[in-house]
Amino acid sequence: MTQAKEQFSDRLLTGSDAGLKAAVSILRAGGLVAFPTETVYGLGADATSDKGVRRIYEAKGRPRENPLIIHVSDLEMADQYAVLPKAAVAVADIFWPGSLTFLLLAKRNSGLSNIVNSGLPTIAVRMPSNKLAQKLISKLGRPVAGPSANLSGRISATTPEEVLSQLGKRIDAILDDGPTSVGIESTILDMTGNPKILRHGAVSQEDLELVLGPLNDELRPQVLAAPGQMASHYAPRAKVVLNVTHPIEGAIWIGFGICEGCQLNLSCQGNLEEAAHNLFQTMAQADKMTLEDQVIAFAPIPHQGIGRAINDRIVRAAAPRE
Ligand code: TXA
Ligand code: MG
Repeated sequence: MTQAKEQFSDRLLTGSDAGLKAAVSILRAGGLVAFPTETVYGLGADATSDKGVRRIYEAKGRPRENPLIIHVSDLEMADQYAVLPKAAVAVADIFWPGSLTFLLLAKRNSGLSNIVNSGLPTIAVRMPSNKLAQKLISKLGRPVAGPSANLSGRISATTPEEVLSQLGKRIDAILDDGPTSVGIESTILDMTGNPKILRHGAVSQEDLELVLGPLNDELRPQVLAAPGQMASHYAPRAKVVLNVTHPIEGAIWIGFGICEGCQLNLSCQGNLEEAAHNLFQTMAQADKMTLEDQVIAFAPIPHQGIGRAINDRIVRAAAPRE
């Protein structure tokens, strides 16, 4: 067992019936359970519980103006809490369960906690494909509120070890499902008007355009509508530089494809899916390797398919910090 797992062994739950039962009891009592999804681990609470949702913000150190995604087990549950236009149902038919989050109008008096969406008229909704996540939500019988299970602004967690090393002390339990399969967060698609991508993610713009036609992927002008989308984010401890094509002295160089002299590589084959899968774990690894003042350097990543999501994350990791 790794160090983090040993330290927090009393909080580890498996996907057995007993493990799921324990997780549901904690959620019902307003507690926090980190849970696997196919993208990244989520920091879960009962989305109808003010107490639970408040604890998410406190545990992450997340500003209350930054709303959360709710995870549902089926379209029926989504329909209880959000207004589902026909077009959203058609897109859900193709991409759900999966790594696509819809921004929808929230239904009033649905029973959701008011703070889960920061009091906005909209709500972000996703139906994950991870089997444990689905079982957890179905057994709870309510949506699970869940931002990525990392400290606010830091690297997203794709392994239980990373969740525990960032949040171990602040959660009641974690459902251990090993490393996540996709490794990068869901794509967020605004379906409140003309479809618009708010965050590039695991479902590519190209795949969405096959169904929806050309998409305008400009960022929203309202900064507070998606604050996670603006400033420094996904930040390791070390400084990050981008588009590096030659070794830099004193840097940990992360390559993509053939890359002579790099210490780490997102995908030696130059495969973007594999690179997305490895991104956050490789960043965490590089961060542990860097000494004082050393930087993390990324080789260029093609800006296509899931490469857009990778570039989005590393640009934010390289953004100036407060
Ligand atoms: O793959 C994922 O989406 C993961 C897993 C756990 O589901 N979740 C995730 O959540 O990445 P989080 O909180 O780290 O990122 C959600 C983003 C934030 O930037 C937030 O500002 C935005 O979605 N968001 C959530 N609700 C919103 C709303 N009502 N309006 C605008 N943006 C919203
Ligand atoms: Mg996040």
